[in-house]
Amino acid sequence: MCGIVGYVGQPGAVDRDYYALDVVLEGLRRLEYRGYDSAGVAVVSEGAVDHRKKAGKVAALDAELAASPLPNSILGIGHTRWATHGGPTDPNAHPHVVDNGRMAVVHNGIIENFSELRNELAGKGYNFVSDTDTEVAATLLADYYNKDAARDLTAAMRLTCRRLEGAFTLLAVHADHEDRIVAARRNSPLVIGLGEHENFLGSDVSGFIDYTKQAVEMGNDQIVTITAEDYEITDFEGNRAEGKPFEVKWDAAAAEKGGFSSFMDKEIHDQPAAVRDTLLGRLDERGRLSLDELHIDEAVLRSVDKIVVIACGTAAYAGQVARYAIEHWCRIPTEVELAHEFRYRDPIVNEKTLVVALSQSGETMDTLMAIRHAREQGAKVVAICNTNGSSIPRESDASLYTHAGPEIAVASTKAFLAQITAAYLLGLYLAQLRGNMYADEIVDVVDELQKMPEKIQEVIDAEEQVKKLGTDMVDSSSVLFLGRHVGFPVALEGALKLKEIAYIHAEGFAAGELKHGPIALIEEGQPVFVVVPSPRGRDSLHSKVVSNIQEIRARGAITIVIAEEGDESVSDYANHVITVPQAPTLLQPLLATVPLQVFACALAGAKGYDVDQPRNLAKSVTVE
Ligand code: F6R
Repeated sequence: MCGIVGYVGQPGAVDRDYYALDVVLEGLRRLEYRGYDSAGVAVVSEGAVDHRKKAGKVAALDAELAASPLPNSILGIGHTRWATHGGPTDPNAHPHVVDNGRMAVVHNGIIENFSELRNELAGKGYNFVSDTDTEVAATLLADYYNKDAARDLTAAMRLTCRRLEGAFTLLAVHADHEDRIVAARRNSPLVIGLGEHENFLGSDVSGFIDYTKQAVEMGNDQIVTITAEDYEITDFEGNRAEGKPFEVKWDAAAAEKGGFSSFMDKEIHDQPAAVRDTLLGRLDERGRLSLDELHIDEAVLRSVDKIVVIACGTAAYAGQVARYAIEHWCRIPTEVELAHEFRYRDPIVNEKTLVVALSQSGETMDTLMAIRHAREQGAKVVAICNTNGSSIPRESDASLYTHAGPEIAVASTKAFLAQITAAYLLGLYLAQLRGNMYADEIVDVVDELQKMPEKIQEVIDAEEQVKKLGTDMVDSSSVLFLGRHVGFPVALEGALKLKEIAYIHAEGFAAGELKHGPIALIEEGQPVFVVVPSPRGRDSLHSKVVSNIQEIRARGAITIVIAEEGDESVSDYANHVITVPQAPTLLQPLLATVPLQVFACALAGAKGYDVDQPRNLAKSVTVE
């Protein structure tokens, strides 16, 4: 939530013809998926701070800048906001400018003790023009800067951070210092980008991916001061700290739409590669799993007697899919819990519990807090994450990265498939380690997994039928989704996609639950998607779902059935059949989810909505 960018260059030393503002605006455009309630920039030039900010998307800020340009500068900061304190108005937009116009601050996160601090500062005679916690932090910073810190911006930031409670990334510039940005982070993301005679800051690497792939990960409760030639990290007490350098593995083109109508559309098409890349390097030629990055003692993994998967939203549905496979392969009891519920129910976890945290962004605060709670109880945590340098892998005992590439659209698609893939690799690895499966059984699953990218591509190649359904059903006011076994979380995911981007009432049900209540919703013309398991799997599973289709069809539902190629049993009861290639039941979610994503994307597009930036949402939920 909220995207932050900072840039410092060196006059004459950078052999590219741009100014801070261009770099900052480009970064904001790339980070806009993190929040799009308002945008703003500040530059420091000739001993003065100047800024522009505007409610709405970065395009509104562009218009404001065209009407009222900022001076050229080699130092700038920018912000794109997902509103927390105070509505999405111009005054509440960042940067917040304080110290008689000489200091500008942008912020991501929530400062929990802001009202206490606001009263304290009001008592000292400060006035506030916005409703935000950010202005309070900025005012506190200015107060320290002018008094206790003797005009040392870094020292003032340290004093400020020690007073702040909650989560924050703060970037500050001051007219007295045309060469530096001072930034701080606690439980909120910030990455440093390193260039030649120029340095960058970003909420994530997409904030500077056009300019450098060399990045540095910062720890929690740290402050960095960047200039064009250097950066220095300290903790809040002023002790020197080391950052962790890493190289970004994808380039700017991966964060472009590449000719697709939306990022979501592109990311749906990225899925064969996302799954292929997630498998890459983790299987040897004999089909054995080798997860070198899993730095947890094998003895500990052997002694695990319970697995708890924690995640939110789509990632939690990936976890639900994975549970079926992990329990089946490893015979370890596996629970899936929404991260924000986990720590409030006093969960029973201990040294023998393996917690698997799934997160695309690696910054979801609810998941991060659940990880901390689990580790405090002695559990080991493996993060399955898509974002290098993010908080969740850093705070976990080991990480298994999904290699889906940047996911820009707010609605998750390729991360879901990549998360299932990585969780399956982990399940198979545990089964291999603990001897729960014979080597040739593992090889069989691995063989099937390796065929999945090609099969996902087949589903995508047949997307026109589904797109047409989406546009034909543009006026639907409610759509239901049914599934059993692994098809149940797929149904939940299909419903979530439709809710979040098409703003249509949608619900997913376990098909077996129908008769216990939801069937009352079925009336003439009610569209219902049904995910049908493979007829070659457990017969009872398949035939039960076929019965469910008959039951709803008899009550007037329009049935849209996702079934395996060659499954003739459903055609008599289906208004529409969408076929997917044959695959073992446990792998079917990697195929059956895709038409549901395509459907939601097409329907939302037909409604004229911005599928990449749906209302009220942001990509990375960094507040609890
Ligand atoms: C839905 C969606 C969200 C995320 C959830 C967790 O399309 O994207 O439900 O899955 O907010 O986010 P991560 O995976 O970043 O922890």
